[in-house]
Amino acid sequence: MGRISIASVTKCFEAGTSVVTALNDVSLDVQDQEIITLVGASGCGKSTLLNLIAGFETPTAGQVLVDGHPIKGPGPDRGVVFQQTALFPWLSVEDNIGFGLTLRANRGKADRQQVVERMLQRTGLLAFRERHPAELSGGMRQRAAIASVLAINPSTLLMDEPFGALDSLTRSIMQDFLLEIWEEQRKTVVLVTHDIDEAIYLADKTVVMTAHPGRIREVIDVNLPRPRRYDMRSESSFIALRDHVTQIVRTEAIKETAVAAVG
Ligand SMILES: Nc1ncnc2c1ncn2[C@@H]1O[C@H](COP(=O)(O)OP(=O)(O)OP(=O)(O)O)[C@@H](O)[C@H]1O
Ligand SMILES: [Mg+2]
Repeated sequence: MGRISIASVTKCFEAGTSVVTALNDVSLDVQDQEIITLVGASGCGKSTLLNLIAGFETPTAGQVLVDGHPIKGPGPDRGVVFQQTALFPWLSVEDNIGFGLTLRANRGKADRQQVVERMLQRTGLLAFRERHPAELSGGMRQRAAIASVLAINPSTLLMDEPFGALDSLTRSIMQDFLLEIWEEQRKTVVLVTHDIDEAIYLADKTVVMTAHPGRIREVIDVNLPRPRRYDMRSESSFIALRDHVTQIVRTEAIKETAVAAVG
């Protein structure tokens, strides 16, 4: 469960007296348990697309379906992780992870605690369970945020530049962490990133978007074997994919700059 279908979606925003078309006639199918990464120039509509799937926004035209049903709003089947996902600063790591579960009436206290223990263990945060968010490193905070989303057991993870604020070493560790979770739990993942290596390393498919208005420029199949390993990045198949994606993203960004210069 976690099949997403974006069918001819256009999204416009009113900005003062003008209208911004953030997405124009976008169609994309994401299979259950697939990892899709979205790349493209700043402002091309990546977050807008993710927000539509999350149910935070509604399309101006077209439809977004999850498992064949139109999305009516946010739901526990879709967990969302942002670049700096908000944790409650006054709650401990443990209570942050358990918070979403307390809102779900069908969970008993013992059952809830079991899920929290598993998440603390899985994310390597057992020793930090009593700490508050301000007392954690950026990587730990992001692991706590991911744990709090995973605790609700969504079938889909929507991630908007989830590792964008981390240093490159922590970032690569977090990429492997996400892939390990995926190997274990096989969720559908849609992840936005500006990092092309990250986009390829994680994905089954990388979607490159055009700038203004956002459309899908190309969907690239990433046929690298799983489980992925860090050293794959130096293999020729990985380098060829990276060069290909970089070329398209660059071409689109240059076009955008030219349009902006003409005015
Ligand atoms: N709530 C809003 N009101 C008005 N315009 C908006 C709104 N949200 C997004 N936009 C516009 O829609 C376009 C797409 O924005 P979006 O945030 O989806 O881009 P993005 O690809 O995520 O960019 P970035 O890589 O910088 O995060 C931009 O032109 C943006 O200004
Ligand atoms: Mg964005």
